[in-house]
Amino acid sequence: MAGKKIDKASISTVLYTEKGWNRLDKTADSNQYTSIFVLTDSNTNRHCLPLFENHFQHPYTPMTMEAGETHKHLATCEDLWASLSEQGADRNSLLINLGGGVVTDLGGFVASTYKRGIDFINIPTSLLAMVDASVGGKTGVDFQGLKNQIGIIKEPEFVVIDDVFLQTLPQNERRSGYAEMLKHGLIADADYFSLLSSNSIAKHDQMMGHIRHSVSIKSKVVTEDPFERGLRKILNYGHTLGHAIETHFLEHPTKKILLHGEAIAIGMIMEAELSFLTTNLTAEERDLIKTVFSSIYDPVSFTESDIIAIKGLLKHDKKNQSNQVRFVLLQAIGKPVIDCLVREEDINAAFQFYAD
Ligand SMILES: NC(=O)c1ccc[n+]([C@@H]2O[C@H](COP(=O)([O-])OP(=O)(O)OC[C@H]3O[C@@H](n4cnc5c(N)ncnc54)[C@H](O)[C@@H]3O)[C@@H](O)[C@H]2O)c1
Ligand SMILES: [Zn+2]
Repeated sequence: MAGKKIDKASISTVLYTEKGWNRLDKTADSNQYTSIFVLTDSNTNRHCLPLFENHFQHPYTPMTMEAGETHKHLATCEDLWASLSEQGADRNSLLINLGGGVVTDLGGFVASTYKRGIDFINIPTSLLAMVDASVGGKTGVDFQGLKNQIGIIKEPEFVVIDDVFLQTLPQNERRSGYAEMLKHGLIADADYFSLLSSNSIAKHDQMMGHIRHSVSIKSKVVTEDPFERGLRKILNYGHTLGHAIETHFLEHPTKKILLHGEAIAIGMIMEAELSFLTTNLTAEERDLIKTVFSSIYDPVSFTESDIIAIKGLLKHDKKNQSNQVRFVLLQAIGKPVIDCLVREEDINAAFQFYAD
C-alpha cells in the first residue's frame, strides 16, 4: 500500500426536512424509476409510514421486516430479494429504507446486491441511525454471530433526515443515539460536548440543530479517511471497551439488555480514566465526562467474572493489530489520540473508576 494515494470519499448528500422531502418528491416525479419500494420494520411500519405518507404521494410497494438486530441476517435479505423479484422490481427500481440502522444497513445491502445493484435512499428514523448510520455508506448484515460480517460499502442516492420521526422513538433508544452525539463532542468539539451536556436530552426543539452538527462531524471524518487508515479511528472512542461490554451482556441473557449507546457510554467513562492514566487527560475533564454520562445513563454493575470475560473479549476486538489492544484516547476533550496501548492494570483501574 505504501505510496498509494488515498482518495477522499464522496459521501451522499444528507438533506433535512423540507429540502429532503422536496428532493424525494422530485426524484419520484422524474420518471427515472420504473417502480418504487419502501422497506420498514414492524415498528416503523406502524409509527413512521403514516408520517412518510404525509410527504410522499407517489405509488409505491411496501415491504416490511421484523424489527430488531436479531433479524439483521441473510434470511431476511432472501425474503426481500424474493419479494422484489415477485413484484417485478427491475434494474431501474428504487428502494427507500425507512427505519433505524437495522433497516438502513440491511435495506442498503439488499438494494446494492439485487440485480447487481439498484438505487436506494435512506430515511433514518432512530436518533442513532440519523447521527451515525446515515453517513459512511456501510451496508450489511450479521453472520454466524458476528456483527456486520457480510456487506459492502455503497452510498445511498441521498439521505433524508426529519426529526418528526423521533416523537415515537422509545426513550432508551433516544439515549442510545445521544451517546454517539456526546462522543462526537468528545472527539472533535469541546463546545458541542458542553452544549449537549447542559441540555436536556428531551429538549426537542434543539435536537435538529444537534443532529446536523453531529452529521457534519462524522461526514468530515469519513471524507478525510474513507478506509479507516487513521483519522476515522477516532469514531471508535468508547467503543473498544464498549463493544466488549455490549457483547458480554448479549452473551448472557440473564443480564439486562444493554443498547449499543448505553454500552459505549460506559466505555467512554472507562476510557476517560484510561486517558487520564495514559494520555494526560486532566482529572477535571475525566470527572466531568463521568458526571455527564452518569446523569443520563443508569449505572451497571460488573462482577469479577464479568470483568475477566470482558477483558477476554477485548482481545478479539476487530480494531486490534498484532494482538495488541489499541484504544482511541483523549488528550483533552475534543482532542483524540489514536492507536494507544494501555496496561492491563489500567483497564482494571478503569473498571474501578466506573464503579466508584
Ligand atoms: N452503517 C453504519 O455506519 C452504522 C453506524 C451505526 C450503527 N449501525 C447499525 O445500526 C443498527 C442500530 O441502529 P438502531 O439503533 O437504529 O437500531 P434499530 O434499527 O433496531 O432501531 C431501534 C429500535 O427502534 C425502533 N424504531 C426506529 N425508529 C423508530 C421510530 N421513529 N419510532 C418508534 N420506533 C422506532 C426500531 O423498530 C427498533 O425496534 C445496528 O445494526 C448497527 O450495526 C450502522
Ligand atoms: Zn457506535
